Amino acid sequence: MKAWRASLLYFPEPAQAVLETDGLLVVGPDASGRQVVQAVGSYSALASRFPELDVTHLPGRIIAPGFVDMHIHYPQLDVIGSPAEGLLPWLENYTFPHESRFSDAAHNSEAATFFVDELLRHGVTTALAFATSHPASVNALLGEAQRRSLRLIAGKVLQDQNSPDGVRDETEQSLRDTEALITRWHGVDRLGYAITPRFVPSCSEAQLRGAGELAACYADVWIQSHVAENKDEVAWVRKLYPQARSYLSVYEQFGLLRPRAVYAHCIHIDDEDRALMRGTGTAAAVSPTSNLFLGSGFFDYQAADRTGFLYGLASDVGGGTSFSPFHTMLAAYYVGREGQTKPGLSLSPQQLWWQHTGGAARALGLEGVVGNLLPGCEADFVVLNPQATPLLARKTAQAASLDELLFALIVLGDDRVVENTVISQAGTT
Ligand code: GUN
Ligand code: ZN
Repeated sequence: MKAWRASLLYFPEPAQAVLETDGLLVVGPDASGRQVVQAVGSYSALASRFPELDVTHLPGRIIAPGFVDMHIHYPQLDVIGSPAEGLLPWLENYTFPHESRFSDAAHNSEAATFFVDELLRHGVTTALAFATSHPASVNALLGEAQRRSLRLIAGKVLQDQNSPDGVRDETEQSLRDTEALITRWHGVDRLGYAITPRFVPSCSEAQLRGAGELAACYADVWIQSHVAENKDEVAWVRKLYPQARSYLSVYEQFGLLRPRAVYAHCIHIDDEDRALMRGTGTAAAVSPTSNLFLGSGFFDYQAADRTGFLYGLASDVGGGTSFSPFHTMLAAYYVGREGQTKPGLSLSPQQLWWQHTGGAARALGLEGVVGNLLPGCEADFVVLNPQATPLLARKTAQAASLDELLFALIVLGDDRVVENTVISQAGTT
């Protein structure tokens, strides 16, 4: 067993954080050897229960749950910051050409190492990631995550139409590859597999049907895709499926809505779609830096909460502009405030933080596993320095409440705040 003494930020209740200013986090193996939180609380209350403990004391630091990124593209590291007239030209001019390079093993191995380094440097300890249509990209990414003991879920992209040479796959082979990758990776160590149809326009009916059939065979794999991000995309889907009630309903038709199905964006949807998300247990990956960068629109938080479907935050790199959960939480605040296309509201810093930790974990079906520091959670956490920059030090010193402290970190923070990222490693902590 091992313990850390510092300020501890965690969520006894959904979206309700506490900060234990002089806290103790005790970590040790569970029955199956996973390193999990054994106890969390005030140092004075807990220290006597664990007298022989090896305690790392971090005065002035905050220990918080590792961040959970619900939607990110591993092959889009080099796509970040590519300007375009919206989603579809961005895909055609930057994204597909970059992704075509991932057929190459050397490129994959360099990019996978860089990608995982970048996640950890920013304090992201769980992610649901798109690879490319090349099975080698999944093997490279999940292989690297396995070496680093990261909890990562990823999938080979399915895209057998409306996609250029170099990324387009072949229907039957793409489904065989998906099944082989599920068998190889899903549930191995901390890894998971996600069936990954890119979006409706890039998948034939046969490919979507096959994806749904695989989902039915493998009930605990994830599904990830995009929906209703951009108005031109929505119009394209309406042309492809004129009979469908909505874009989202096309996925329903193919059996692709269920718990552990995660759809990025969910911007141009209506209340019937929201009810469908809720009724099927489908989750939204809200991707605010991407939506602002590509000019896609604004996720309607009020409508989401009125209906009550699952959602959490995501970077959506490389449509998104940053790996940093702090940047994503700030962008989510901007998106919430936007009041011209939907009601504007002020998300609280505790809500924002929850959406990128415990709330995202819940939306992924991983509540109680990651995203919190309650007993039983895997011991993935970040060590934050609230004095990482002169302005942060000045601002956080004046914080009169937990909300003021968290807002200062969200608005002024980035990777400089993340002093260390600690990953639960079976048998080593
Ligand atoms: N829709 C289909 N593919 C993509 C992608 O790679 N990024 C985003 N943001 N939207 C998509
Ligand atoms: Zn995306």
